[in-house]
Amino acid sequence: MKVAILGGGQLARMLAMSAHRLGIEPIVVDPKPDAPATRVAHHVLASLDDPAGWQQVAHCDVATAELDHAPPSALDWLSEHMAVRPGPDAFRLAGDRLREKRLFNELGIETAPFWPVDSEEDLVRGLREIGLPAVLKTRQEGYDGKGQRILRKAADARRAWREVGGVPAVLEGFVPFARELSILAVRSARGELRFWSPVENHHEDGILRSSRPVEIDVEDPIQVAGRRAVAALATALDYVGVLTVEFFEVEGRLVANEMACRVHNSGHWTEEGAETSQFENHLRAITGLRLGGTRTLGPTAMLNLIGARPHRDALLSVPGGRLHLYGKSPAPGRKLGHLTLCADDEERLQHAIHLARDAAAMEART
Ligand SMILES: Nc1ncnc2c1ncn2[C@@H]1O[C@H](COP(=O)(O)OP(=O)(O)OP(=O)(O)O)[C@@H](O)[C@H]1O
Ligand SMILES: [Mg+2]
Repeated sequence: MKVAILGGGQLARMLAMSAHRLGIEPIVVDPKPDAPATRVAHHVLASLDDPAGWQQVAHCDVATAELDHAPPSALDWLSEHMAVRPGPDAFRLAGDRLREKRLFNELGIETAPFWPVDSEEDLVRGLREIGLPAVLKTRQEGYDGKGQRILRKAADARRAWREVGGVPAVLEGFVPFARELSILAVRSARGELRFWSPVENHHEDGILRSSRPVEIDVEDPIQVAGRRAVAALATALDYVGVLTVEFFEVEGRLVANEMACRVHNSGHWTEEGAETSQFENHLRAITGLRLGGTRTLGPTAMLNLIGARPHRDALLSVPGGRLHLYGKSPAPGRKLGHLTLCADDEERLQHAIHLARDAAAMEART
């Protein structure tokens, strides 16, 4: 069984490592010769919209992608040769913030108020409709807070429009959230849907810093609403694979932020902290294997390693820690790896988190 993965970043790398364990052969397509997944998978060196690259994975059994903005032209071509999972429609939606928000609302899933912006005039009008503060986001290709500007006064409009590059965008109301939650689910080709524990996420400067699964509570109305929203999306898209939805919790309600039609950074803890990881279950789903259990095994947290070269020795001394490095060179704001922490009880976990934060703040010389 051969799986083609569009994109060769860290998500593809972790998918590829899981694939080997299942006897699945991963083939990644990426234009960078040293992309993180290229060390652990067969590599097709090509831009994702280059038909010559598609030809080289035409013999695969199934295709998937590690990025939401996988080119529709590639997905359409591949779907004539193999199953593409999740399907091209899911990527078309998740790769475009405006379409995604419209779909959420069609399915009765609340979002922040939003306004399409294709010009500076649209932005000025949108600010009048939505009010301040507000967030301007490019419709496509944003990640880790890139392509976003917060507007605090009407006079910020011109600069914000220029700074996002004057490309199609969407203006949304700033949500004064109490916390951020993501919900990850996996759906099989037969329509079986399983959820991992909801995850509480902490971002700084638009970048995910840490995640913690919270216990599944079948009576908590917030969790119930979140799972219902994810189930509605998965059903509407006839989705196969791992689906992630990011939410804001505000005044006891959930407001959907965005969805990702792929494995997600806030699910990295599942590798050590759950019965089956998001990577393995994504592969099981898209190749038609049976799904694995999603139960959380115990108190768990995940800390991202961002920017500076991680200090391996310090990180490896954290009790219950498991280090994952992606083989990327350091750069400000770049995700270079993560540390998963598992402990026997809450107190030990808190202690480990404390030590891990100190270790993550250290920079290695080599
Ligand atoms: N409308 C908003 N109100 C308040 N905070 C926001 C809003 N939009 C984004 N943020 C903050 O910025 C973070 C990143 O935003 P978002 O998820 O939309 O961007 P992204 O670049 O797609 O990020 P990623 O792909 O890494 O999740 C959010 O998790 C949240 O902390
Ligand atoms: Mg996000």
